[in-house]
Amino acid sequence: MERLRKAVIPAAGLGTRFLPITKVIPKPMLSVLDKPTIQYIAEELSSVGIEEIIIVVSPDSDIIKKHFSKADALKERLLSDNKMDLYEVLEKTEKFKVQFVVQEVANGLAGAILCAEPFVKDQPFALLLGDELICADGEQKPCMKRLAEIFEQTGKSVIATMEVFGDDVSKYGNIGISDETDGVMQVNAIVEKPSVNEALSNNAIIGRYVLSGEVMGMLKSLKPHGNEIYLTDALDTLAKDGKLLASCFEGERYDVGGKLGYVKANVELALKSKEIGKDLKEYLIGLVERLK
Ligand code: G1P
Repeated sequence: MERLRKAVIPAAGLGTRFLPITKVIPKPMLSVLDKPTIQYIAEELSSVGIEEIIIVVSPDSDIIKKHFSKADALKERLLSDNKMDLYEVLEKTEKFKVQFVVQEVANGLAGAILCAEPFVKDQPFALLLGDELICADGEQKPCMKRLAEIFEQTGKSVIATMEVFGDDVSKYGNIGISDETDGVMQVNAIVEKPSVNEALSNNAIIGRYVLSGEVMGMLKSLKPHGNEIYLTDALDTLAKDGKLLASCFEGERYDVGGKLGYVKANVELALKSKEIGKDLKEYLIGLVERLK
Protein backbone atom coordinates (compact mmCIF):
# COMPACT_ATOMS: atom_id res chain seq x y z
CA MET A 1 0.00 0.00 0.00
CA GLU A 2 1.22 3.45 -0.87
CA ARG A 3 2.17 5.77 2.00
CA LEU A 4 0.09 8.86 2.70
CA ARG A 5 2.19 11.80 1.49
CA LYS A 6 -0.24 14.42 0.19
CA ALA A 7 -3.09 16.54 1.47
CA VAL A 8 -5.69 18.55 -0.40
CA ILE A 9 -7.38 21.55 1.20
CA PRO A 10 -10.31 22.90 -0.84
CA ALA A 11 -10.48 26.58 0.08
CA ALA A 12 -11.94 28.25 -2.99
CA GLY A 13 -15.27 29.38 -1.54
CA LEU A 14 -16.03 33.06 -2.13
CA GLY A 15 -16.88 33.63 1.51
CA THR A 16 -19.99 35.66 0.70
CA ARG A 17 -21.27 35.07 4.26
CA PHE A 18 -18.37 37.24 5.40
CA LEU A 19 -18.81 40.17 3.03
CA PRO A 20 -17.59 42.89 2.99
CA ILE A 21 -14.27 41.64 4.48
CA THR A 22 -14.07 38.89 1.85
CA LYS A 23 -14.34 41.48 -0.93
CA VAL A 24 -10.57 41.82 -0.68
CA ILE A 25 -9.38 39.24 1.87
CA PRO A 26 -9.94 35.61 0.80
CA LYS A 27 -11.91 33.64 3.40
CA PRO A 28 -8.99 31.27 4.23
CA MET A 29 -7.03 34.35 5.35
CA LEU A 30 -9.58 35.39 7.97
CA SER A 31 -7.76 35.32 11.23
CA VAL A 32 -8.60 33.42 14.40
CA LEU A 33 -6.74 35.44 17.02
CA ASP A 34 -3.51 36.09 15.09
CA LYS A 35 -3.36 33.26 12.57
CA PRO A 36 -5.29 32.70 9.33
CA THR A 37 -7.66 29.72 9.39
CA ILE A 38 -5.78 28.11 6.50
CA GLN A 39 -2.62 27.92 8.62
CA TYR A 40 -4.45 26.18 11.49
CA ILE A 41 -5.58 23.57 8.96
CA ALA A 42 -2.08 23.12 7.49
CA GLU A 43 -0.79 22.67 11.06
CA GLU A 44 -3.25 19.82 11.64
CA LEU A 45 -1.07 17.86 9.21
CA SER A 46 2.09 18.14 11.26
CA SER A 47 1.06 15.11 13.37
CA VAL A 48 0.86 12.99 10.21
CA GLY A 49 4.15 13.79 8.49
CA ILE A 50 2.44 14.83 5.24
CA GLU A 51 5.04 16.16 2.85
CA GLU A 52 2.99 18.09 0.34
CA ILE A 53 -0.12 20.23 0.69
CA ILE A 54 -2.24 21.25 -2.29
CA ILE A 55 -4.52 24.21 -1.56
CA VAL A 56 -7.36 24.75 -4.03
CA VAL A 57 -8.02 28.48 -4.16
CA SER A 58 -10.31 30.89 -6.01
CA PRO A 59 -8.83 33.28 -8.58
CA ASP A 60 -7.25 36.40 -6.97
CA SER A 61 -5.95 34.50 -3.94
CA ASP A 62 -2.29 35.57 -4.25
CA ILE A 63 -2.33 36.82 -0.68
CA ILE A 64 -2.63 33.18 0.52
CA LYS A 65 0.53 32.29 -1.45
CA LYS A 66 2.23 35.32 0.06
CA HIS A 67 1.32 34.16 3.55
CA PHE A 68 3.16 30.85 3.08
CA SER A 69 6.17 32.37 1.26
CA LYS A 70 9.42 33.68 2.76
CA ALA A 71 9.41 37.07 4.50
CA ASP A 72 13.19 37.64 4.46
CA ALA A 73 13.22 41.42 5.03
CA LEU A 74 10.86 41.26 7.99
CA LYS A 75 12.74 38.30 9.47
CA GLU A 76 16.07 40.14 9.23
CA ARG A 77 14.51 43.09 11.01
CA LEU A 78 13.19 40.86 13.81
CA LEU A 79 16.61 39.20 14.10
CA SER A 80 18.42 42.52 14.44
CA ASP A 81 15.84 43.62 17.05
CA ASN A 82 16.45 40.29 18.83
CA LYS A 83 12.74 39.41 18.65
CA MET A 84 13.36 35.70 18.33
CA ASP A 85 9.86 34.59 19.36
CA LEU A 86 8.32 36.61 16.52
CA TYR A 87 11.05 35.41 14.13
CA GLU A 88 10.00 31.84 14.94
CA VAL A 89 6.34 32.69 14.38
CA LEU A 90 7.26 33.71 10.83
CA GLU A 91 9.47 30.65 10.31
CA LYS A 92 6.44 28.49 11.11
CA THR A 93 4.49 30.02 8.22
CA GLU A 94 7.33 29.13 5.81
CA LYS A 95 7.87 25.49 6.66
CA PHE A 96 4.99 24.08 4.61
CA LYS A 97 5.56 22.67 1.16
CA VAL A 98 2.47 24.11 -0.49
CA GLN A 99 1.24 23.96 -4.08
CA PHE A 100 -1.63 26.16 -5.17
CA VAL A 101 -4.20 25.36 -7.81
CA VAL A 102 -6.96 27.70 -8.89
CA GLN A 103 -10.54 26.43 -9.14
CA GLU A 104 -12.00 28.47 -12.00
CA VAL A 105 -15.55 27.09 -11.86
CA ALA A 106 -17.52 26.42 -8.66
CA ASN A 107 -18.65 22.84 -9.38
CA GLY A 108 -18.92 21.24 -5.97
CA LEU A 109 -16.55 19.58 -3.53
CA ALA A 110 -15.60 16.82 -5.96
CA GLY A 111 -14.88 19.51 -8.58
CA ALA A 112 -12.50 21.23 -6.15
CA ILE A 113 -10.72 17.97 -5.36
CA LEU A 114 -10.34 17.18 -9.07
CA CYS A 115 -8.40 20.46 -9.50
CA ALA A 116 -5.68 18.80 -7.38
CA GLU A 117 -5.58 15.68 -9.58
CA PRO A 118 -2.39 16.68 -11.49
CA PHE A 119 -0.54 16.71 -8.12
CA VAL A 120 -2.22 13.75 -6.44
CA LYS A 121 -2.70 11.44 -9.46
CA ASP A 122 -3.70 7.99 -8.16
CA GLN A 123 -2.04 8.31 -4.78
CA PRO A 124 -3.89 8.31 -1.45
CA PHE A 125 -4.52 11.76 0.02
CA ALA A 126 -5.75 13.50 3.12
CA LEU A 127 -8.66 15.88 2.55
CA LEU A 128 -9.28 18.77 4.95
CA LEU A 129 -12.20 21.11 4.30
CA GLY A 130 -11.25 24.74 4.74
CA ASP A 131 -14.31 25.83 6.74
CA GLU A 132 -13.53 23.72 9.79
CA LEU A 133 -10.81 23.73 12.42
CA ILE A 134 -10.26 20.60 14.49
CA CYS A 135 -8.19 21.29 17.58
CA ALA A 136 -6.75 18.62 19.88
CA ASP A 137 -5.25 19.47 23.27
CA GLY A 138 -2.68 17.75 25.44
CA GLU A 139 -3.35 14.02 25.61
CA GLN A 140 -5.92 14.04 22.80
CA LYS A 141 -4.97 12.34 19.55
CA PRO A 142 -5.18 14.77 16.61
CA CYS A 143 -8.02 13.84 14.26
CA MET A 144 -5.76 13.55 11.19
CA LYS A 145 -3.36 11.28 13.08
CA ARG A 146 -6.22 8.97 14.01
CA LEU A 147 -7.44 8.80 10.39
CA ALA A 148 -3.91 8.25 9.01
CA GLU A 149 -3.31 5.40 11.46
CA ILE A 150 -6.56 3.66 10.48
CA PHE A 151 -5.70 4.09 6.79
CA GLU A 152 -2.21 2.70 7.30
CA GLN A 153 -3.52 -0.31 9.24
CA THR A 154 -6.35 -1.19 6.83
CA GLY A 155 -5.59 0.40 3.43
CA LYS A 156 -9.22 1.60 3.40
CA SER A 157 -10.51 5.15 3.01
CA VAL A 158 -11.60 6.63 6.33
CA ILE A 159 -13.69 9.64 7.33
CA ALA A 160 -14.07 11.48 10.62
CA THR A 161 -17.54 11.75 12.12
CA MET A 162 -19.31 13.30 15.09
CA GLU A 163 -22.65 12.59 16.74
CA VAL A 164 -25.46 15.00 15.92
CA PHE A 165 -29.07 15.13 17.02
CA GLY A 166 -32.43 16.50 15.87
CA ASP A 167 -32.46 18.91 12.92
CA ASP A 168 -28.66 19.02 12.91
CA VAL A 169 -28.54 15.70 11.01
CA SER A 170 -29.70 17.57 7.91
CA LYS A 171 -26.65 19.84 7.91
CA TYR A 172 -24.11 17.09 7.16
CA GLY A 173 -23.33 13.97 5.17
CA ASN A 174 -24.72 11.03 7.16
CA ILE A 175 -23.44 7.45 7.39
CA GLY A 176 -24.97 4.02 7.88
CA ILE A 177 -22.89 1.62 9.99
CA SER A 178 -22.79 -2.18 9.75
CA ASP A 179 -20.13 -2.88 12.38
CA GLU A 180 -17.91 -1.15 14.96
CA THR A 181 -14.65 -2.41 16.49
CA ASP A 182 -12.42 -0.34 18.77
CA GLY A 183 -14.15 2.85 17.64
CA VAL A 184 -13.63 2.08 13.94
CA MET A 185 -16.96 1.93 12.12
CA GLN A 186 -17.60 0.01 8.90
CA VAL A 187 -19.69 2.33 6.72
CA ASN A 188 -22.30 0.68 4.47
CA ALA A 189 -24.04 3.74 2.98
CA ILE A 190 -23.90 7.53 2.90
CA VAL A 191 -26.55 10.15 2.30
CA GLU A 192 -25.74 13.82 1.85
CA LYS A 193 -27.72 16.13 4.16
CA PRO A 194 -30.74 13.85 4.69
CA SER A 195 -34.04 14.93 6.22
CA VAL A 196 -34.43 13.80 9.84
CA ASN A 197 -36.53 10.82 8.64
CA GLU A 198 -34.03 9.74 5.99
CA ALA A 199 -30.99 9.80 8.30
CA LEU A 200 -29.17 6.46 8.56
CA SER A 201 -27.67 7.18 11.99
CA ASN A 202 -26.62 10.05 14.26
CA ASN A 203 -23.13 10.06 12.77
CA ALA A 204 -22.36 13.13 10.69
CA ILE A 205 -19.36 13.48 8.39
CA ILE A 206 -17.04 16.30 9.35
CA GLY A 207 -14.55 17.77 6.93
CA ARG A 208 -11.61 15.39 7.51
CA TYR A 209 -10.92 12.37 5.32
CA VAL A 210 -8.10 10.07 4.23
CA LEU A 211 -8.95 8.73 0.79
CA SER A 212 -7.38 5.81 -1.05
CA GLY A 213 -5.73 6.12 -4.46
CA GLU A 214 -8.78 4.91 -6.39
CA VAL A 215 -10.97 7.85 -5.30
CA MET A 216 -9.56 10.44 -7.72
CA GLY A 217 -10.40 8.12 -10.65
CA MET A 218 -13.91 7.59 -9.28
CA LEU A 219 -14.50 11.35 -9.06
CA LYS A 220 -13.65 11.73 -12.75
CA SER A 221 -16.51 9.49 -13.81
CA LEU A 222 -19.23 10.82 -11.48
CA LYS A 223 -22.49 12.09 -12.96
CA PRO A 224 -23.09 15.77 -12.07
CA HIS A 225 -26.12 17.01 -10.13
CA GLY A 226 -26.79 20.19 -12.14
CA ASN A 227 -23.39 21.92 -12.21
CA GLU A 228 -21.97 20.11 -9.19
CA ILE A 229 -20.27 16.77 -8.65
CA TYR A 230 -20.57 15.30 -5.17
CA LEU A 231 -17.77 13.60 -3.23
CA THR A 232 -20.53 11.79 -1.37
CA ASP A 233 -21.45 9.82 -4.53
CA ALA A 234 -17.94 8.33 -4.69
CA LEU A 235 -17.92 7.66 -0.94
CA ASP A 236 -21.27 5.88 -1.19
CA THR A 237 -19.82 3.53 -3.84
CA LEU A 238 -16.82 2.83 -1.58
CA ALA A 239 -19.19 2.19 1.34
CA LYS A 240 -21.33 -0.27 -0.64
CA ASP A 241 -18.12 -2.12 -1.66
CA GLY A 242 -17.08 -2.41 2.03
CA LYS A 243 -14.13 -0.07 1.48
CA LEU A 244 -15.03 2.85 3.73
CA LEU A 245 -14.40 3.24 7.46
CA ALA A 246 -15.26 6.03 9.90
CA SER A 247 -14.09 7.16 13.30
CA CYS A 248 -15.10 9.79 15.83
CA PHE A 249 -12.44 12.34 16.73
CA GLU A 250 -11.05 13.78 19.94
CA GLY A 251 -10.94 17.52 20.53
CA GLU A 252 -13.01 20.51 19.44
CA ARG A 253 -14.43 21.27 16.02
CA TYR A 254 -15.09 24.86 15.00
CA ASP A 255 -17.21 25.69 11.97
CA VAL A 256 -15.39 28.85 10.92
CA GLY A 257 -17.39 29.06 7.69
CA GLY A 258 -20.18 30.86 9.59
CA LYS A 259 -20.10 33.93 11.84
CA LEU A 260 -21.13 32.23 15.08
CA GLY A 261 -18.61 29.39 14.74
CA TYR A 262 -15.93 31.89 13.75
CA VAL A 263 -16.53 34.03 16.83
CA LYS A 264 -16.63 30.93 19.08
CA ALA A 265 -13.27 29.79 17.65
CA ASN A 266 -11.79 33.21 18.35
CA VAL A 267 -13.05 33.27 21.93
CA GLU A 268 -12.05 29.69 22.79
CA LEU A 269 -8.62 29.80 21.17
CA ALA A 270 -7.95 33.22 22.69
CA LEU A 271 -8.81 31.75 26.12
CA LYS A 272 -5.94 29.28 25.57
CA SER A 273 -3.49 32.05 24.67
CA LYS A 274 -0.65 32.60 27.14
CA GLU A 275 -0.65 36.26 26.21
CA ILE A 276 -4.30 37.20 26.78
CA GLY A 277 -6.12 34.06 28.00
CA LYS A 278 -6.21 35.03 31.68
CA ASP A 279 -7.35 38.61 31.08
CA LEU A 280 -9.96 37.50 28.56
CA LYS A 281 -11.37 34.97 31.06
CA GLU A 282 -11.75 37.70 33.68
CA TYR A 283 -13.42 39.95 31.14
CA LEU A 284 -15.82 37.20 30.02
CA ILE A 285 -16.81 36.37 33.60
CA GLY A 286 -17.62 40.06 34.17
CA LEU A 287 -19.49 40.21 30.89
CA VAL A 288 -21.64 37.20 31.80
CA GLU A 289 -22.60 38.96 35.07
CA ARG A 290 -23.61 42.07 33.16
CA LEU A 291 -25.66 40.02 30.69
CA LYS A 292 -27.70 38.31 33.44
C1 G1P B 1 -19.50 19.09 3.12
C2 G1P B 1 -19.80 17.63 2.80
C3 G1P B 1 -20.68 17.00 3.89
C4 G1P B 1 -20.00 17.17 5.23
C5 G1P B 1 -19.66 18.65 5.49
C6 G1P B 1 -18.84 18.80 6.75
O1 G1P B 1 -20.70 19.82 3.05
O2 G1P B 1 -20.45 17.55 1.53
O3 G1P B 1 -20.88 15.63 3.62
O4 G1P B 1 -20.84 16.69 6.26
O5 G1P B 1 -18.92 19.22 4.41
O6 G1P B 1 -18.73 20.13 7.10
P1 G1P B 1 -20.73 21.44 3.01
O7 G1P B 1 -20.73 21.90 4.43
O8 G1P B 1 -19.51 21.88 2.26
O9 G1P B 1 -22.00 21.79 2.31
